[in-house]
Amino acid sequence: MSTHHIKLTINGEVKEADVPARLLLVHFLRDTLNMTGTHIGCDTTSCGACTVLVNGRTAKSCTLLAVQADGAEVMTVEGLAQNGQLHPVQEGFTVKHGLQCGFCTPGMMLSAVALLKENPNPTEDDIRWGLSGNLCRCTGYVNIVKAVQYAAEKMKA
Ligand code: FES
Ligand code: FES
Repeated sequence: MSTHHIKLTINGEVKEADVPARLLLVHFLRDTLNMTGTHIGCDTTSCGACTVLVNGRTAKSCTLLAVQADGAEVMTVEGLAQNGQLHPVQEGFTVKHGLQCGFCTPGMMLSAVALLKENPNPTEDDIRWGLSGNLCRCTGYVNIVKAVQYAAEKMKA
């Protein structure tokens, strides 16, 4: 299999590597960079556990090749907290108990960040629609919605 040199910015840091053409972005993050905050649930674009932001938009990193992210700005859950301060979305998940096992949580939070950037005043329906690509097998949706509502209020303040 051919290899390709890629250079991308992940959570503000430039990363370069030679990668096989068929390496998925999620495996690049987890196995090459040891950034295991991005989870793999289904590997078939269904669950959203692998959601990251690519150039500010949500992407399921199990469906994107690492070479397709060449030159992109990628944000993962590891990039949410800044200077020791939790991102309002992380704070919301903590305060409102928006997680049970936590497996879906990184992907949920990245989807929530993208949603709130696009729509700072989401209704409950907007939140449910915005997170509809992310599944929680613990079915903790009620508190996940409350967590995003908390973050929306905090970000407005
Ligand atoms: S692991 Fe990517 S959508 Fe489930
Ligand atoms: S908290 Fe367990 S899968 Fe969502």
